[in-house]
Amino acid sequence: MNQSTFPTAQAPTAVLFDAYGTLFDVYSVGQLGEQLFPGQGAALGAMWRDKQIEYTRLVTTSNHGAHYQPFWALTLAALRYTCKRLGLPLAAAQEDQLMNQYRQLSAFPENIEVLQALKARGVVTGILSNGDTDMLGAAVRSAGLEPLLDHVISVDAIKKYKTHPDAYALGEQATGLQAKNIVFVSCNAWDALAATWYGYRTFWVNRYQLPFEELGTQPTHTGANLRDVLALF
Ligand code: LAC
Repeated sequence: MNQSTFPTAQAPTAVLFDAYGTLFDVYSVGQLGEQLFPGQGAALGAMWRDKQIEYTRLVTTSNHGAHYQPFWALTLAALRYTCKRLGLPLAAAQEDQLMNQYRQLSAFPENIEVLQALKARGVVTGILSNGDTDMLGAAVRSAGLEPLLDHVISVDAIKKYKTHPDAYALGEQATGLQAKNIVFVSCNAWDALAATWYGYRTFWVNRYQLPFEELGTQPTHTGANLRDVLALF
């Protein structure tokens, strides 16, 4: 872990997590895709995720946000696109099954331990996600995280997705803290990068040994899982 890039900052007092893939394990989504379409689960999972994120950018950057749709709707649209693109016949029942996975996610096992330890140290905790309020609420309950999170912040409140700065500003507004005193944790390199640009102290969870974005800025910290976050508090 690299802690050398923030020599003058005071210790952070809050931590905000990205949701999907960071706090919640989305493996079950790909696994079900493989069961429904044998041999195509990995391609389905990867393209579905890419399309979902592409749609968030498309609606945020086009026509002053006039075409905003909540994350659930964009996720469904991305699934339909992906199945058409891959030539997979998506019956209504399969569509429901795949979408419902998003409501029944588990947390990565180490995350619960880390959240418990953060709470024990009096750290403010929360989620800052593109997910809409209903989706996030269902996932938080399903993963049993309700008692461990002080804030569940959805960009739906402002109808602009990350990486729009107004989306990252929600974290400051909800906690009443400055971004430099908040650790923003994401497994998405693009999200960790944009949060760093915004001014957060960032922790990139590189679970899959991927390269970071090549745009000249590094996250404040990097780790293979969330346990290293504890060292910051
Ligand atoms: C989120 C997506 C980007 O939770 O993972 O915001």
